[in-house]
Amino acid sequence: MQFSDLTIGVPKEILKGEKRVAVTPETAEKLIEAGAEVLVETGAGEKAFFSDDDYEKAGVEIVGGPEKVYPKADVILKVKEPQFNEDLDEHEADMLAQNSTLISFLHPANSSNHGMVRKLAENGVTSYTLDGIPRISRAQSMDALTSMSTVAGYRSVITGADHLQKFVPMIPTAIGTMGPANVLVIGSGVAGLQAIGTANRLGARVKALDIRPEANEQAQSLGAEVIDFDLPEDLATTDEGYARRLPDEWYEKERETIKEHVVESDLVVLAALIMGEEAPVLVTEDMVEDMDDGSVIVDIAIDQGGNCELSKPGEEIYHDNVMISAILNMPASLPLDSTNMLAKNIHRFFSYLVEEGELAADSEDEIIESTLVTEEGEIVHRGTLKAMGRL
Ligand code: NAI
Repeated sequence: MQFSDLTIGVPKEILKGEKRVAVTPETAEKLIEAGAEVLVETGAGEKAFFSDDDYEKAGVEIVGGPEKVYPKADVILKVKEPQFNEDLDEHEADMLAQNSTLISFLHPANSSNHGMVRKLAENGVTSYTLDGIPRISRAQSMDALTSMSTVAGYRSVITGADHLQKFVPMIPTAIGTMGPANVLVIGSGVAGLQAIGTANRLGARVKALDIRPEANEQAQSLGAEVIDFDLPEDLATTDEGYARRLPDEWYEKERETIKEHVVESDLVVLAALIMGEEAPVLVTEDMVEDMDDGSVIVDIAIDQGGNCELSKPGEEIYHDNVMISAILNMPASLPLDSTNMLAKNIHRFFSYLVEEGELAADSEDEIIESTLVTEEGEIVHRGTLKAMGRL
């Protein structure tokens, strides 16, 4: 059987505000049917509404604490990168067994995670990062970034609508017609497109802007009016089709272009990112000050620094009567569906890696090459080595 002789451990996430879990009773059952033994820390699923009983019914063994999960598992499935556990005075990266495997979002190129990645290598852990899964068709069912961006895009509009002081749809009443709200989405990637679709379904008038022509076409097909930004295509995209960091003078032009649209909007969703880099600052203080009182900005680029210069990570603030919401880790705010999606992606990815109880580390494979972070005591991930100045 595919997972025979493998013990899979699922710890409770300890990052503040994290409500997701890496394995659901449904995916646990599949792992068990394929021969694995699954250990889940007590309460690991409760914030996503999966009880210990639900796991036990699926055949899982519930164990009482991280010290009973980490050292016993051949494979640890996790949501967030290992953190320092204050209660145990020990780093999660030091709790994993020698020669075990870790699958999680690791964000290994991020400098704040370099120490953790070094620990994984020193401890002989083979680790794979979910944020490295390439955006190619054969990896779509494993693409956890896309699933989580879908959640973030949807939640951005729901959060914005909740904070708005007016209707989103057009509502005819006996004393005149109300709305619709004007929504502007900057950055029409997976999250932005989901925001456009959600705003449209709520009945808003939607405008969108991206630097990639393909993203603009998709935004238009979802019903958004696309804002023209005469940027040469070779400046906007890499050969692989991803967005590039622009020369400063082009960011200046972009800010000039968007200013009038920001000012006219009731809700602005900011979702412009450049893979593995700080998000560009596109909305400035003076734009915010020219917006109508009661308008809202939701900056979901905040986990990479944010697109609005006033955004405060993890906070919802008012500036000149405009709400700027910069909630971190947006996918954790819809824990049931984000967990259901993520657990399926993790299951698909893990199934891809394992053959007959052996983890296949064929580093020629594109999916493995871009996700494998540490192996045999070494850091092998190109993006991480580059960020560490070692390439
Ligand atoms: P992302 O989350 O990295 O970036 C979000 C959006 O911000 C992108 O559309 C980007 O063009 C845009 N952006 C960057 N700088 C900007 C600026 N200055 N102004 C306005 N917008 C700006 O992107 P995401 O959604 O993760 O997708 C990354 C790439 O992967 C895209 O090319 C997408 O088409 C592709 N993709 C492919 C998949 C597949 O084939 N399986 C699945 C998902 C994404």
